[in-house]
Amino acid sequence: MKKVLIIHYSQTGQLTDILKSIAGPLEKNPEISVTFANIAPKTPFPFPWGFWRFFNTFPETVYEDAGPVDIVGADPAGDYDLVILGYTVWFLSPSLPTTAFLNTAEGQALLKGKQVITVIGCRNMWLQAQERMKQRLADIGARLTDNVVLIDSVHSAASFYSTPMWMVFGNKGPYFGGKIPEAGISKDDIARASRFGEAIAAQLPDRPAQSTAPMLAGLGAVKINDKLIASEKVAKRSFMLWGKLLRAIGKPSNPIRVAVIGLYFLFLLTLILTVVPLLAIIKKLIEPLTRAKIAAEHAYFAAPSGESRAQLDQGA
Ligand SMILES: Cc1cc2nc3c(=O)[nH]c(=O)nc-3n(C[C@H](O)[C@H](O)[C@H](O)COP(=O)(O)O)c2cc1C
Repeated sequence: MKKVLIIHYSQTGQLTDILKSIAGPLEKNPEISVTFANIAPKTPFPFPWGFWRFFNTFPETVYEDAGPVDIVGADPAGDYDLVILGYTVWFLSPSLPTTAFLNTAEGQALLKGKQVITVIGCRNMWLQAQERMKQRLADIGARLTDNVVLIDSVHSAASFYSTPMWMVFGNKGPYFGGKIPEAGISKDDIARASRFGEAIAAQLPDRPAQSTAPMLAGLGAVKINDKLIASEKVAKRSFMLWGKLLRAIGKPSNPIRVAVIGLYFLFLLTLILTVVPLLAIIKKLIEPLTRAKIAAEHAYFAAPSGESRAQLDQGA
């Protein structure tokens, strides 16, 4: 009998639905037992966020200043064969409850020496968060064998509007008479995530405990958007810089900090509306010079599961 722990934190239930879809085929396999566990912040994060609290959370998120959490439902002595760690991305970092989980001795004990599959459900910017996750897992002594990412399938300009609206006001849309579709990952994509559960269920029972080979190659586990590689690096640097300044000003409740957050929001908006399109044009112009570098980065970020959909195409 192989033991699988599925652990996560989800605010709206979207990530929970993804993990349930993956878990379905595992639960049907008599050679596998599945345990669901939750990361429960001791001070909950209310949803929807409201404007100020949403943006005021970014300094603590990028500096990984996470409050305590309870781990509900995992057996500390469970000695699981596989841990499926689901997480969402907050400001290009793993969400604060996820960071808090990774900080706990109990969380680290659950992961140490185990094979781990990360499952991300976010808007579309996850590369930098997963870089941090890879580091954290390596430091803990866990083995990352696969990474699955589900994102909003609409155009990124549309989700750039609809996701914050959903988070801040709790309204998923659609907006502007349907011109901007509903925020979130599509029901179809969530249902199709069961293919990952099927692949794990087929391989896990006979898999050597120390194997590092991915189980989810050829299933379209991730899709890399080249345009976001550089944007994420720039945005992460900006978050770190402004985050440092804001944390130096004071705690999230400090009125001066709140005012500076307002300024930063305006700065960010101006940047996105002016510098980002300009950079896109420059990138296009120098594309022949950067092609090899981008291809290498593309392959790096797609690892370990890769982008290939070969097995899906065979089945089609
Ligand atoms: C504070 C905050 C910051 C977020 N930042 C990002 C981000 O940087 N990149 C991204 O793709 N999605 C981002 N999202 C969207 C989340 O990753 C996720 O899709 C959403 O919170 C729904 O997840 P849930 O399962 O917890 O409800 C953010 C959400 C919140 C609440």
